[in-house]
Amino acid sequence: MDTRLDEQSVYSLDVQGMGDAIKNLPLMLKKGREIGQEEEPLRLIRGIDRVAFLGMGGSAISGDLIASLFLDKLPLHITVVRDYNLPPFLGKKTLYFAVSYSGDTEETLEACTQALKLGGQVVAVTSGGQLASLARNFGSPLLLVPPGFQPRAALGFLFGAALAYMEKLKLVPDLSSQWEETFSLLEELARRYSPEIPASQNPAKQLALALEDKEIIICATPGIAAASALRWKTQINENSKLTALVDFYPELDHNEIVALSLRKRNSFLLTLRDKEEHPRTALRVALTTKIIKPFLLGAEEIMSQGDSRLARLFSLVILGDFLSYYLALLQGVDPTPVEAIRILKKRLSEK
Ligand code: PA5
Repeated sequence: MDTRLDEQSVYSLDVQGMGDAIKNLPLMLKKGREIGQEEEPLRLIRGIDRVAFLGMGGSAISGDLIASLFLDKLPLHITVVRDYNLPPFLGKKTLYFAVSYSGDTEETLEACTQALKLGGQVVAVTSGGQLASLARNFGSPLLLVPPGFQPRAALGFLFGAALAYMEKLKLVPDLSSQWEETFSLLEELARRYSPEIPASQNPAKQLALALEDKEIIICATPGIAAASALRWKTQINENSKLTALVDFYPELDHNEIVALSLRKRNSFLLTLRDKEEHPRTALRVALTTKIIKPFLLGAEEIMSQGDSRLARLFSLVILGDFLSYYLALLQGVDPTPVEAIRILKKRLSEK
């Protein structure tokens, strides 16, 4: 009998509590929202036309997820910069969110310094480090989130704080009812996917078992599903220590489909979807899957759940988080440590 995903086995391998952090996503999101709500609103300079998130990895993803909520809804352009240098289309009329959980990520610090030199308004979202000091020195708003987590496990804090602050600045509409729905849906999903629930009744465990030892291909439709797919990939990279290929509709129908339709590996296709996708995109998913499925070991479509965009977004995020967690445990690895990242950062800091 396979006991690898039983509650006891899970917690004996997950000694640093990644499972609890994932289960606590709804609470962390609530806390993050409070942090954003409590901060004094910045007096915005006139004519702000862009928001730029400056960050890397587990911190930057909060920007992609926020941007996906408003892509087709607002005239405000929300962009994510994952680099040292700011692109020239950003300037003084950009509101910058410098997001670094540790506060010590060099690309983020450099981009943030450039934004400040440009005279841009910067909001810092961090648990401390040099970013907190920089924000204090420049008198920038500082959304200080609790320390002690892996950056990727602090998504609820970072996302919640940044989005609530954007609401406070009236850059985005009031989302109160969406938050309420999101909290209650997430609580329900966290229970349903948690280690206490056996695989026979637990969709996250079942998905992990289906994917075990397969090459993972994630395709997603635009909007919240696409942003969630990025989170799934990075969570599979860091928690499960596995690679995952990610591509997006409708673009993949113009290139990746060729390779996928001739794939002779043990691949499993996950397609992340949302009810607001364009009807032609829905048709593309059906036709594309039909063409490539004979070459795959398996395929599953995952539709977002819930009513509001925010709730649907997080219904995908939490499933991916639990999936990546169970994939780690199936291989007998601790989901928390990310040794290669730690070593690389240490070596960079010595140069
Ligand atoms: O998940 C991780 O540990 C990384 O992707 C980090 O988030 C990334 O290296 C950036 O660090 P920080 O989030 O502290 O800015």
